[in-house]
Amino acid sequence: MPDVIATYYFRPDLSITPKDAAQAISDEETTGTWTDITTRLSYVKKLDGWVESVLPEGEGYITKIHYPAEIFEPGNVPQYLSVVAGNLFGLGSLEAVRLLDVEFPDVLVPFKGPKFGITGVRRLIGSKKRPHIGTIIKPKAGLNPDDTAAVAYQAAIGGVDFIKDDETLTNQAFCPLNERVTAVMARLDEAREDTGRQVLYAVNVTDRADKIVERAENAIEGGANTVMVDVITCGFSALQALAEDPAIKVPIHVHRTMHAAMTRNPEHGIAMRPIARLVRMLGGDQLHTGTISGKMGHDPEALKGDNRVLTSASFGMKMTFPVASGGLHPGKVNAELAGLGMDIVLQAGGGIHGHPDGTAAGVRAMRQAVDAFMAGMSAEEYAKDHYELERALQKWGSS
Ligand code: 3PG
Ligand code: 3PG
Ligand code: MG
Repeated sequence: MPDVIATYYFRPDLSITPKDAAQAISDEETTGTWTDITTRLSYVKKLDGWVESVLPEGEGYITKIHYPAEIFEPGNVPQYLSVVAGNLFGLGSLEAVRLLDVEFPDVLVPFKGPKFGITGVRRLIGSKKRPHIGTIIKPKAGLNPDDTAAVAYQAAIGGVDFIKDDETLTNQAFCPLNERVTAVMARLDEAREDTGRQVLYAVNVTDRADKIVERAENAIEGGANTVMVDVITCGFSALQALAEDPAIKVPIHVHRTMHAAMTRNPEHGIAMRPIARLVRMLGGDQLHTGTISGKMGHDPEALKGDNRVLTSASFGMKMTFPVASGGLHPGKVNAELAGLGMDIVLQAGGGIHGHPDGTAAGVRAMRQAVDAFMAGMSAEEYAKDHYELERALQKWGSS
């Protein structure tokens, strides 16, 4: 049976050689501990991990460690993480350690992946090759249901494809989820009558583990045509529970708030790559992976690799739509599309609702920036006869 192969960066302290440090990770996560033990009976040894390589990288080393598939319980992702991303982070002899990537053999992937994926989401919207434009209702918290719906309506008539709650909005008293869904969907129906276009609205169903599926079913009964989950704060199992529930017949949008606590330090933590792999396996139809030019720091090459994990052939699963979000505006569309291609959801909150002429104009400006890119023109040139884009560039410039 093929092994699970995990790749780590690590920097050992002076008490240990790099080879021993890699071996210590392998031992800790399989059958060993800090000292020899009399209870490691001979038949247990088939579950030993082994170190394939240890190569210098920057101030530290990169190692590939094999974990026998039998040490994992098929389908139990929390248990997978307790092995590949478990105690090793606390080993005193490592000054830093980062899980860069992990590959699972077929036997440990009994998951179906996204129900919709890029193609299914495109079918709902009626788009072919172009990027999707999304918006986050802003302010992220505070608007009441009717005002939230009014913003959604403006975005829809401006030509947006996708609207979402922000990561901190769930079911607070100022904007109860049921009332919000009803109000937003009614205004989106109105917009569809005006424009003939379907818009997806992702309701944030983030909740405690034993309530999340019920909350999502409830939102869908109320008319929600997409649900959203904060996957790091809820846990990967929440995504799995949503994706595997037969009543969740809508796409699942996955936000990764809190990820930077794990992903940001280049020497320590967990890179976005394993998170992206798990989200696709567990059924995320859309996932935030970052931007080339937005407000959060990202390494463009790593980001492109993360998006490839979502879109290249993998276990016969549908592709997860990568979402670029955080600090985008029309002047940044060119850089995003040049770097990330057409299979991308470009989301802007401030970059749409901060347009000097309001939300609908903000969406038009984003779409004009996309049209400019697709026509091979610079945003500035295109803005000469596209007023909303011109106004956006006047406010934010272009990069
Ligand atoms: C936000 O909520 O502002 C962004 O989606 C965060 O961006 P990130 O996906 O890069 O963390
Ligand atoms: C998100 O959740 O993706 C964000 O809130 C992005 O917001 P911004 O476009 O205003 O940075
Ligand atoms: Mg947000």
